[in-house]
Amino acid sequence: MPRPGHVDYAGLVKYRPQGGDMRNILERASARETTMRVAAGSVARRLLEECGVFIGSHVTEIGGIVANLSEIPSARELNERADVSEVRCLDEEAARAMICEIDAAREGRDTVGGVFEVVADGLPVGLGSHVHWDRKLDGRLAGALMSIHAMKGVEIGLGFEAARRRGSAVHDPFSHSNGNGLPVSRTRNNAGGLEGGVSNGEPLVCRVAMKPISTLMNALPSVNTTTGEATAAHVERSDYCAVPAAGVVGEAMVAIVLADALLEKFGGDSLEEIAGNVARHRAYTQNIAEKWNR
Ligand SMILES: Cc1cc2nc3c(=O)[nH]c(=O)nc-3n(C[C@H](O)[C@H](O)[C@H](O)COP(=O)(O)O)c2cc1C
Repeated sequence: MPRPGHVDYAGLVKYRPQGGDMRNILERASARETTMRVAAGSVARRLLEECGVFIGSHVTEIGGIVANLSEIPSARELNERADVSEVRCLDEEAARAMICEIDAAREGRDTVGGVFEVVADGLPVGLGSHVHWDRKLDGRLAGALMSIHAMKGVEIGLGFEAARRRGSAVHDPFSHSNGNGLPVSRTRNNAGGLEGGVSNGEPLVCRVAMKPISTLMNALPSVNTTTGEATAAHVERSDYCAVPAAGVVGEAMVAIVLADALLEKFGGDSLEEIAGNVARHRAYTQNIAEKWNR
């Protein structure tokens, strides 16, 4: 009795399991697999931290309730503040409403999705490539984030909103360096830290949309794949909302992609060598900053 929204049906047709048993398909599709991504992401994150790059995340939306935030703190502060909230949301009023919405969905034997945001600070200018389609950092990040179970959309910076505005209200003006070690500063960060698939030194901002959990206690119509009879879909233990947990998986995927891109540009055989290469590059951008801001 395949569950709509899960791979049960497509996996059954694809793998033709003995006796039509979908158990192995649905077990292998489980997001429990992301535990290992978080473990691997923690190693990538430590490498990035040694090179001055920090990653955090928070929940911006659950079940249609949107957090009202005027400013996003630095990535380091972000996790400290998000972890205090049960739903990892910085807007306390919205967090309370999100919790009510999750409870209401559970009482209605239904599920909810939402949106989380991953932020990375301290990225050197120049990770990724504008030359090779498969090295563009935005494409790599979107692919990695979309590979997480139940993710249905990724925005970088202003994202879809950029498509609705004129260019003058989208692109981020340059101004003289504000002493942050970069040749220029920006008066805003609508680009979310990437231009041409290359990091521009501003914070990386990725937002990810998660669909509602597919296993419904009040199951949707399905088919008994042995008898062909119409019936309700299979039901088993399941979450009602996994957006706060998914944000942590999102951080791991961003860490893995960024560590990869960092090693591409600054690769070496020891931490000393890699961090030294990053430090030399930062000294180079600092030098340009001094030249351009005389
Ligand atoms: C952290 C996390 C927890 C999840 N927990 C559940 C769950 O308890 N029950 C469920 O049906 N789906 C859960 N999912 C979503 C399914 O794994 C996912 O929807 C399914 O594999 C189908 O893949 P797709 O939605 O990417 O097409 C979870 C996803 C994540 C990221």
